[in-house]
Amino acid sequence: MAPSNTSIKLVRNIPSGSPTLKDFKVESVDAPTKSSLQPNQVLIRTLYLSCDPYFRGRLSGTRDSYVASFEPGKPIEGLGVGVVEASTSSKLSEGDLVTGGAFLWETRFVCADSAVTKVPSNTGISPANYLGVLGMPSFTAYVGLVSLCNPKAGETVLVSAASGAVGQMVVQLAKARGLRVVGAAGSDDKVDFIKSLGADVAFNYKTCGDLQDAVKKAAPEGIDIYFDNVGGEFLDVALKNMRPFGRIAACGMISQYNATPETAYQLKNIVNIVPKKVSIFGYIVTDYYSKPDYKKFIDEVSTKLKEGKVNYKLDEVVGLENAPQALLDLFEGKNFGKRVVKITDSNQRL
Ligand SMILES: NC(=O)c1ccc[n+]([C@@H]2O[C@H](COP(=O)([O-])OP(=O)(O)OC[C@H]3O[C@@H](n4cnc5c(N)ncnc54)[C@H](OP(=O)(O)O)[C@@H]3O)[C@@H](O)[C@H]2O)c1
Repeated sequence: MAPSNTSIKLVRNIPSGSPTLKDFKVESVDAPTKSSLQPNQVLIRTLYLSCDPYFRGRLSGTRDSYVASFEPGKPIEGLGVGVVEASTSSKLSEGDLVTGGAFLWETRFVCADSAVTKVPSNTGISPANYLGVLGMPSFTAYVGLVSLCNPKAGETVLVSAASGAVGQMVVQLAKARGLRVVGAAGSDDKVDFIKSLGADVAFNYKTCGDLQDAVKKAAPEGIDIYFDNVGGEFLDVALKNMRPFGRIAACGMISQYNATPETAYQLKNIVNIVPKKVSIFGYIVTDYYSKPDYKKFIDEVSTKLKEGKVNYKLDEVVGLENAPQALLDLFEGKNFGKRVVKITDSNQRL
């Protein structure tokens, strides 16, 4: 009998509003075997899967996006790290640690060797780091802050969702460049963590009272750079507080991802862009992996990691069957740090 494989499938697309657990199905299916491999394929045992806010767009069913929507009846897919258990590839061997952006939400799956990249193993660092500090969210922080906003020592940066996967790295990259850092997050624990990363000021935006007053108090001279992870009211308040020639990294707008046309936030302070001469940089990180920025990022962050000069918080949920809830938590601020799912598997050998 073939070993069983857990698979998380999408039940239906959700164009707007909040997805729920009922939109996902946990199935037990036969695991792929070595004999099922075509040439240049690998069979991967999944170790960690990444939960990311961009999944919300992929749940929607829209065809008008930079990344394909998930399809009902098919497994969810995203970034992951795993071990090659069988290979017909000349490039990858059994035991190799690999990462890639098309990991199926399954205990084991088969893919083309070209869909994954080998990463160092036995380095003493958790493989989950390839989804966090050395992975996509961290590089997203680098692109938005360093490549696009051209930060200068002495400037003030405001970071929303500052304890999250992207935000925590923005704080640290900004401090390393001599900026004054103001971070905001949705709980006191998160605020303490942001301060421990070196932020000059951090506040809980859920309990601070009027957001405009809180930002004005934290940055009385105004904001040179706003690193936007949330959009909505936060972006609106930031627009009001920008200094001349301010820059905004429009990284993400998670506060709006579950909005309906009726509940979507309408910006009131957009007019400030003209007199304050503000530049807004919308970007998607995948456009930057082929640019020199990627090597600069890896050099800087891997050196800092080796020297113990970077502190990156992972938030691990155990068990593939818990992955849908782990994902939904992101939209309610229930993650604390980079949310990953650790895949447990008692059946390690085929
Ligand atoms: N442009 C790109 O290429 C790119 C790549 C990666 C990520 N992103 C974007 O970057 C942003 C952060 O992603 P991440 O992976 O670092 O996620 P994350 O910060 O680890 O997790 C999401 C956080 O967003 C906050 N949040 C959730 N709902 C919110 C709401 N309604 N209003 C305000 N804040 C809310 C919560 O933090 P609090 O508890 O602090 O509220 C939550 O913990 C997202 O918008 C994402 O789409 C963009």
